[in-house]
Amino acid sequence: MDKKEAEKEIEKLSKEIEEHNYKYYALSSPSISDFDFDKLLEKLISIEKQFPDLVKTDSPSQRVGGAITKEFRQAKHKYPMISLANTYSEEELSEFDTRVRKAVGDDVEYVCELKYDGVAISLIYQNGKLQQGITRGDGVQGDDVTTNIKTIKSIPLGLTGANYPKEFEVRGEIFIPLKTFERINKEREDIGEEPFANPRNSASGTLKMQDSAEVARRKLDSTAYYVLGENLPYTSHSQSIEAIKGWGFKVSEYVEVLKGMDAVHGFIKKWEEKRHDLPFDIDGIVIKVNSLKQQKTLGFTAKSPRWAVAFKYKAERAATKLNSISFQVGRTGVITPVANLEPVLLAGTVVKRASLHNADIIDKLGVRIGDTVFVEKGGEIIPKITGVDISMRPTDALPVHFITNCPECGAELVREEGEAHHVCPNAKNCPPQIKGKIEHFVGRRAMNIESMGGETIELFYKANLLHNIGDIYNLKKDQILPLDRIAEKSAANIIEGIEASKNVPFERVLFAIGIKHIGETTAKKLAFYFKSMDVLRQATVEKLLEVSDIGEVVAKSIVDFFADADNLQIVNLLQQKGLKFELGADEIAAFSDKLQGKTFVVSGVFTKHSRDEIVNLIEKNGGKNTGSVSAKTSYIVAGENMGPAKLEKAKKLNVAIISEEDFLNMIES
Ligand code: IVH
Repeated sequence: MDKKEAEKEIEKLSKEIEEHNYKYYALSSPSISDFDFDKLLEKLISIEKQFPDLVKTDSPSQRVGGAITKEFRQAKHKYPMISLANTYSEEELSEFDTRVRKAVGDDVEYVCELKYDGVAISLIYQNGKLQQGITRGDGVQGDDVTTNIKTIKSIPLGLTGANYPKEFEVRGEIFIPLKTFERINKEREDIGEEPFANPRNSASGTLKMQDSAEVARRKLDSTAYYVLGENLPYTSHSQSIEAIKGWGFKVSEYVEVLKGMDAVHGFIKKWEEKRHDLPFDIDGIVIKVNSLKQQKTLGFTAKSPRWAVAFKYKAERAATKLNSISFQVGRTGVITPVANLEPVLLAGTVVKRASLHNADIIDKLGVRIGDTVFVEKGGEIIPKITGVDISMRPTDALPVHFITNCPECGAELVREEGEAHHVCPNAKNCPPQIKGKIEHFVGRRAMNIESMGGETIELFYKANLLHNIGDIYNLKKDQILPLDRIAEKSAANIIEGIEASKNVPFERVLFAIGIKHIGETTAKKLAFYFKSMDVLRQATVEKLLEVSDIGEVVAKSIVDFFADADNLQIVNLLQQKGLKFELGADEIAAFSDKLQGKTFVVSGVFTKHSRDEIVNLIEKNGGKNTGSVSAKTSYIVAGENMGPAKLEKAKKLNVAIISEEDFLNMIES
């Protein structure tokens, strides 16, 4: 294929892929199988690999992420990002209606929308292409999170149709659907990280992640609800939303244009009940004057538009009796106090348990066993206790004593300075910790030994066959066959699954062995940086800090892991049993150590690659990328408009300044 043909093919494929993305993610009506879709994307990526300078900033290949942002640049909003006035009562809402009618007369239409509980975003388009995605920040300026925004499939990178304005902004909300939220939290708990409190926090945390590939994996969603620009040709808000839908944006399907407050109250009532059936969180309803002419007449206050208001639902609350508190032990030994409640109906479900999080929260609530407590379901999935009704306290209510010993193994609990949680330190002998580690090891994203589920692990553990992940590879068919519920067929499946896991690539083995704080992404980074378990286990904290995104806590956790004699014994056994302990030849081929030991600063604008791509190339070739020039900097890769302060400093420190061309030669030679 020559370059001309490639250009044509890239354009055709990109268009086709984005159309499928739109149908799948914005309209929820796919017209192609996942398999065929992946084929198209693979084809595009392979052509782009042959002709890297034909890769466009709005290519669908950009959606898989990969670019690392060390620090998000601040960007100024062209139009300030203000928020809405809130109301909590029907009276206040009627006052809003009265004010509107006073200003524009009685002929008013209201657009009622759901108030998505996520993170506000401003999307800037020029000539039909996404230029920038900026968070609200302080309303005047926010973080430029464009690289991460590009991974969100329901946000168009290039617009469809032709009648969009040359320049405009779309405001919307980035959110995480409830199902995805649960998956993310499960994965976090799995690697010993604090789960996100609610979907909103997880969305805002995700948007600010440095690694866009991880953002892509998290599967954020979006909804667009406001258009801004000069001389837009619409007369109503609903018209403008219809228009952006046609250009490729995902807009809410739950919008109604209504006349009169009775109808508006009806909409609010309807969603107050139905909101719990939605696959995402909302925290209220937004009511907007539909006519843009009327909007203009009403104008803005210093803080919010006069033509719109948010009706917020009160967090639902119920009172019930606290019967007892139990203490749960997680895979990493973290102790979670859980309240056992007299069952009570809350937001459509019966609640029997609520998290009490940790000892500080219990102290702060001052709660006693037997108390009547208030339970709330706000943005959270797991209900929480928000207060105590002291007036109802029985005379025999018992104060809560946080346990001092592990309820599972009896070990004395520890609580590190500054940490909120009590932890059972008996990682190697505490049953839920042992079983949890084994479950993590065999998990789908780790060694993928599907035939060995939680119940099987429990069974083997009880039969004294499993004490740690290494024991899995010593299991024999004739040991497990006699066990209850293990038939010939399932025994064979288990042994087969264990055998097959020996082909799982190194980066997943590294994830599976369960080093604290090492999730999938970090495992991958470590695997590609060190290339083998043997090199990794010799690495010092200093050496580990060279890997992008690895900080002190993670580095120390790795060193501690390999300093432990029992861990080493298990790791050695796994090696003997033939698990993959190094990258495959094909994986290594994509990497080199040409830049090993060299530290780079990338500054300015480049012609052949984006800044992020250059950073990626540095890391793939074993170099280290840093943000600021110091005596340790080996080279500055300088593009156009390099920052003058950096240039000055580089000259002072005598750091070599090289061009993009020089850099590419360096890694190609
Ligand atoms: S309209 C100038 N519509 O709620 C008006 N906002 O406190 C722009 N939100 O900042 C906002 N759903 O983050 C609008 N359907 C919706 C919304 C919505 C959620 C958020 C948004 C906004 C905040 C208002």
